[in-house]
Amino acid sequence: MSQQKTVLVFGGTGQTGQHFVRLALKDGLRVRALARNPAKFGITDPNLDVIQGSITSIPDLDALVAGADFVVSMLGNAAEQREHTIVADLVRKLVPAMRRNGVSRFLHQAGGLSARPHRRLPLVLWIIRHTVARGFEGQHRDNEAVMRYLTDEANDIEWMVHRAGIGSDGPSKGVLQRSRRAISIATFQDCAAYNLRTVQDATAIHTCDGSRYGKP
Ligand SMILES: NC(=O)c1ccc[n+]([C@@H]2O[C@H](COP(=O)([O-])OP(=O)(O)OC[C@H]3O[C@@H](n4cnc5c(N)ncnc54)[C@H](OP(=O)(O)O)[C@@H]3O)[C@@H](O)[C@H]2O)c1
Repeated sequence: MSQQKTVLVFGGTGQTGQHFVRLALKDGLRVRALARNPAKFGITDPNLDVIQGSITSIPDLDALVAGADFVVSMLGNAAEQREHTIVADLVRKLVPAMRRNGVSRFLHQAGGLSARPHRRLPLVLWIIRHTVARGFEGQHRDNEAVMRYLTDEANDIEWMVHRAGIGSDGPSKGVLQRSRRAISIATFQDCAAYNLRTVQDATAIHTCDGSRYGKP
């Protein structure tokens, strides 16, 4: 009999995160989620354990991490990220807590407009980021700080970053596959399904890839 796995989720009440939590529970995983407003989940499930709190003031990160098989972050806070790298600040504390508790696997969802560590964005993406998407500049900087930290200081853990491209909360448009070059404009639920598969896929370790719909 296989042992039930536990996934620790940050950002589970968000647009990607709510789909992720639903899919993980449907797949039989236990979900432990930190949320500022637990009522936002709108579901009760014996396999869902919600801990109330903010990433900027977690009282006991070790207790949150202990016993998890994977950690998944789908965090975003455009207003706060304009001023502070709140997600990178969390990850700098989270990774040592993971080490202390023997938890190794971590997936972070960033965006396709965030550059890979120590690389420049292709010109077209750079223009989009600095024009129509400029309201999210702080979020991109924070996501880039996460990727730089993981690459430079955390290669002993099994991290992976999904540089997602998301256009709507519509129905599924297909199955996303990991892609180094092309990024599809996907739906939140397809990105959530991709995150759930990818965090359990050892071939994605130490990648900062995008995702694209596979050929039907
Ligand atoms: N949205 C897009 O179109 C898009 C496109 C491509 C990539 N991405 C990337 O995907 C990631 C997730 O985006 P998303 O749009 O799915 O997220 P989102 O809907 O903005 O949700 C963000 C999540 O982070 C949580 N959060 C924010 N501040 C927090 C804090 N201080 N403590 C605890 N939780 C906090 C939110 O909780 P509350 O519910 O309490 O607010 C929510 O669960 C981001 O890295 C983003 O850059 C997004």
